[in-house]
Amino acid sequence: MKVRVLGAGVIGLASAAELLRRGHDVTVIDPSPGSGASYAAAGMLCPAGELWHGEDDLWRLGRASAALWPAFAADLGVPLHRTGTVLAAADAADLQEVDRQLALLASAGITAESLSRRELMAREPGLGRVVGGAYLPDDHSVDPRAVVAALLARVPVTRSAVADMADPARDMADPAYDATVVATGATLPEPFAQLVRPVRGEILRVRTDDGPRQVVRGLVHGESVYVVPRAGSTEVVIGATSEEHDGEAEVTVEGVHRLLDAARELLPSLDRATFVEAIARNRPGTRDNLPLVGPSGVDGVVLAAGHYRHGVLLAPLTARLVADHLETGAIDAALDPRRFAREGANA
Ligand code: GLY
Repeated sequence: MKVRVLGAGVIGLASAAELLRRGHDVTVIDPSPGSGASYAAAGMLCPAGELWHGEDDLWRLGRASAALWPAFAADLGVPLHRTGTVLAAADAADLQEVDRQLALLASAGITAESLSRRELMAREPGLGRVVGGAYLPDDHSVDPRAVVAALLARVPVTRSAVADMADPARDMADPAYDATVVATGATLPEPFAQLVRPVRGEILRVRTDDGPRQVVRGLVHGESVYVVPRAGSTEVVIGATSEEHDGEAEVTVEGVHRLLDAARELLPSLDRATFVEAIARNRPGTRDNLPLVGPSGVDGVVLAAGHYRHGVLLAPLTARLVADHLETGAIDAALDPRRFAREGANA
């Protein structure tokens, strides 16, 4: 097939790479490849750490995609940081939240180890005043910028404004392509724009020789923060705020302050780290927080969008789903982008 992919973030590039691997003729278009949400992402591959009530499909998909990551990363020549993830609570109320998360994980049959303060300190000696927590052995991490760079090395991208080329209803008349895959993150072209909502995330990068050994997800007096070390590097990522809003994704003083406050209390050695950057991007949220992968309702247009907090984790699975759909028509019903139109019709 001759396929056009709009958007060169981790989802568009992974989909394009999978289509190329399967022998299709692929054109990827993006004015600024890899500079959207993928550029901000911390790269936690943490289906358990991000499990939430009522999100059974997300758990199913996250676990399936996490299982694909070792081969996906190896093929790209990017290291996986297989350290597991520590959940750390700063006070008794935070620990109650961690215990609730553990109960939820247990009900889903997920392995997690409850840790006393002492056990937590043995696992992550740099932690500050924490009262206890847990260890998620299967939640790892990867550097999304390295992943995008490796994908860009094998997927040629035409640097052109997606918006000019993305009137799918009109462009589908273009006989040059058998299908268009729309993977433009939080900014979908019409008529799909209303399917995603922007959820701003601010995220920081610092450099230190004294970062944590593994991913630390902390609750610090009700404030959640994660600290992600990079394999073989001094980079440490501190994230992330989460805010529903309609405007540009900008870094705010309050966002930086909250993240640093929580991270420094969790891991006091971060005080000596060199500050590198603070950036903000919009996460592409959907109404049910599940991605949109499959037929758009416009002939020849497939969506691969709306990955919200899970774009990096779900990239290898999404790539397969997109390619399978184009080749066989297969659809994962939970991700069918037409589900919201049906809801509207049934309302
Ligand atoms: N998955 C982490 C975040 O969206 O902040």
